Amino acid sequence: MFVVRRARDEDLPEVMKINLETLPENYWYGFYKSLLDNWGEAFLVAEAEGKLVGYAMSRIEEQSDPVLLGLAKEEEVGLLRRVISSFKGELRPVGHLVSIAVRSPYRRMGIGSSLLRETINVVRDFYKADSIYLEVRVTNYPAINLYEKFGFKKVRVIKGYYSDGEDAYVMVLRLKAP
Ligand code: ACO
Ligand code: ZN
Repeated sequence: MFVVRRARDEDLPEVMKINLETLPENYWYGFYKSLLDNWGEAFLVAEAEGKLVGYAMSRIEEQSDPVLLGLAKEEEVGLLRRVISSFKGELRPVGHLVSIAVRSPYRRMGIGSSLLRETINVVRDFYKADSIYLEVRVTNYPAINLYEKFGFKKVRVIKGYYSDGEDAYVMVLRLKAP
């Protein structure tokens, strides 16, 4: 049994601990605090057995990139620009899933899915974003499977994105009809 709820200020130290335990991409306290202060509806935690066992945190960005808007893959952008002459590159709100993690003893129980489902709902319905995107290590199969289960598509590779030199996939889920 677990619940997913909005994060509060007092959850941040434990969220930081989960992040340090589970991912090599770590952040300073002020970064978590600014996500919570600015996009708190999309900062979620999962609680089980009276403690925090997972989190998902996102921000909302203004983007005009058709790839991040879920309208095209990298290799289609040139074609898209020619075909859709009406595309003016206007800025649209886009969700960016910055980080999601579940403590290892609590994985494969649906907690990651619940965090991601609620993130998608909030980003679409509360923040009115056109799409949601993320970066993920190209070898992170558990996470890639999770994202694909929710319909995210690999749209771009960023060479050497991570500090150890690993590449990232950019994955996008379109939330609105184009
Ligand atoms: N191998 C293959 N597929 C997996 C695995 C795995 N070990 N774990 C999860 N999946 C996929 C499956 O499709 C699974 O569905 P199924 O159980 O019906 O087969 C689906 O994901 C959902 O699984 P959940 O139980 O909902 O996910 P879980 O609670 O285990 O959390 C997560 C998944 C968050 C990726 C977890 O493995 C984790 O914390 N990993 C370490 C941190 C991490 O890599 N985070 C993502 C980094 S990228 C970013 O943050 C934007
Ligand atoms: Zn990112």
